[in-house]
Amino acid sequence: MSFFSQELAIDLGTANTVILKDDQVVLDEPSIIAVETKTGKLVAIGKEAQLMEEHTNPRINTIRPLMNGVIADYDAAEKMLTGFIKKATGDRRMLFTKRLRIVIGVPGGATQVDMRSIRDSASHAGAHDLDMIYEPMASALGIGLDVTAPMGNMIVDIGGGTTEIAVISLGGIVESASIHVAGNELTTDIIDFLAQQHNISIGRTTAEQIKFAIGAVLPELPEEEVPQDYLVEGKNVATAHPVTASISYREISACLDKTISKIEGEIIKVLQRTPPELYSNIVRNGIWLAGGGALLRGLAQRFTDRVHIRFQVAEDPLKAVARGTCLALKMNGEQPFWVQ
Ligand SMILES: Nc1ncnc2c1ncn2[C@@H]1O[C@H](COP(=O)(O)OP(=O)(O)OP(=O)(O)O)[C@@H](O)[C@H]1O
Ligand SMILES: [Mg+2]
Repeated sequence: MSFFSQELAIDLGTANTVILKDDQVVLDEPSIIAVETKTGKLVAIGKEAQLMEEHTNPRINTIRPLMNGVIADYDAAEKMLTGFIKKATGDRRMLFTKRLRIVIGVPGGATQVDMRSIRDSASHAGAHDLDMIYEPMASALGIGLDVTAPMGNMIVDIGGGTTEIAVISLGGIVESASIHVAGNELTTDIIDFLAQQHNISIGRTTAEQIKFAIGAVLPELPEEEVPQDYLVEGKNVATAHPVTASISYREISACLDKTISKIEGEIIKVLQRTPPELYSNIVRNGIWLAGGGALLRGLAQRFTDRVHIRFQVAEDPLKAVARGTCLALKMNGEQPFWVQ
């Protein structure tokens, strides 16, 4: 099988694309390309294109082809996927003309039209066979949960464009929500906060760096988790003079509060709709956090305090979907995880 075919498990995310082949991560890059504005010709892809983001001139344009977990710019998505698949397969696929089979994770909220465009762009990118798996199911598998058991498990995956909340039992999704409130909105919160409270104008790249360095969602973190204050360099909103400000995690926690509360509200709504027996299982098992948002300092603690159920962060939360997609690929035929 492996001599004549190649199998890739792909998490095509709004922020990052992760590809696994034979259980190994063969690609982990931001979901972005750079093209020539006039001709649309590809200039760079992934990490290399990200370096150009917010540094372009009118001749070069960077595009993030996905929005809210689904394809927003079809041409760009096709170019990106083709490029990533080439990188992931080392391009030898062309030489041996191996049969390429891929499985891609899709958000629970994806429409038929969204799935059609993933299907088309995967096929143009060279895939002979394509299956799709719902991302919360993939993250549950990736976390190592026994998703086929008669047992309620709950996952909250906070990505770049979407937050996926799902209760899983007997190999299927029982209750879920897929909302367009996630990491991108948190980054915007930081930009707005610095403009309004410190009169500093910053770009998204800087805002995201601040989020990584001191992003927190509790006003009081345990001492060992407290990050050093962050020195922000930017432009005064009014005077355009260069300015700096020292920002603490407490300020970031306050500015992210509203968006995090929205996610909390959705988690509670899903729990309200969850049948009582499954609810009891979840209380016992706890709730799993995945996606890049799970790395926010104090997130598990904050949700635990508000929801009164224990939250825990998955190991390597940014790769949970890709790992689970890969596992599902290997179980081929045995389990009906594919989106019909
Ligand atoms: N250490 C961190 N602290 C806070 N946020 C983080 C951290 N690392 C990554 N993120 C955020 O997580 C998001 C990306 O997560 P992830 O790769 O899971 O999303 P995605 O799968 O590409 O998006 P989606 O699932 O919405 O399609 C980005 O918004 C990024 O800023
Ligand atoms: Mg994701």
